[in-house]
Amino acid sequence: MPTYAVRAPLARWLRDEAKRAHDDLGAYRLLDVGCGQKPYEPFFAPFVASYIGVDPVDNPHAELKGTVEDLPVEDGTFDVVLCSQVLEHCDDPARAISELHRATAPGGRLLLSTHGVQVYHPSPVDFWRWTHAGLEKVVRENGDWTSVRVSPASGTTACVAMLVNMYIDLAARRAHVGALAKPIVAGLNTLAEAIDGRSSRLRNPGPGTLHANFHVVAEKAA
Ligand SMILES: C[S@@+](CC[C@H](N)C(=O)[O-])C[C@H]1O[C@@H](n2cnc3c(N)ncnc32)[C@H](O)[C@@H]1O
Repeated sequence: MPTYAVRAPLARWLRDEAKRAHDDLGAYRLLDVGCGQKPYEPFFAPFVASYIGVDPVDNPHAELKGTVEDLPVEDGTFDVVLCSQVLEHCDDPARAISELHRATAPGGRLLLSTHGVQVYHPSPVDFWRWTHAGLEKVVRENGDWTSVRVSPASGTTACVAMLVNMYIDLAARRAHVGALAKPIVAGLNTLAEAIDGRSSRLRNPGPGTLHANFHVVAEKAA
């Protein structure tokens, strides 16, 4: 998969966070904002009291229609608010974070992911990219969170490999030999993970690093 550096760590992270939230909060009410096809619902299903999706487009998977900047929910009604790969698509990230904070119940948490480096991918638009510092700033400044933790999904080599893989995959598909790209993509992903695994300077955000995606956990006071 060319976007392995985004998708594999995101799935691992959400699987862990789904269980951790249950350990901390018991059966929880979850709001999935910009839910798309709810790809991560199976991770949360064993742990939730309810799972509500919201999306701005006509979406058969969503129970509610609305944007992240104007959520159609009461204040503080969800113990876990999930917002995965949506922030880059919204008009106003600051207002979006403020709304995500409003929807989160006292003692609850926001689980958010968004891109560091990525190709342009409208859904229906694509406005923003983040550094770890910029993402932490916009989350901290738009909600009275007790803690905000921003972590890179994967390291610098994985990010470079992702971009190279995307173009190898595209070129192979255009040449009608898409299957030939698969072992090259898989090999580069494995090599990149191994290189990042040997160097904390490639894994952790700092001068000169690149990260494909970031994961955020923000907690609200009880
Ligand atoms: C890249 S998809 C991510 C879907 C899903 N959350 C995931 O992680 O696979 C982006 C989703 O955000 C939704 N979206 C776009 N703009 C939005 C906005 N302003 N507010 C809420 N959702 C939005 C799109 O309709 C789409 O479902």
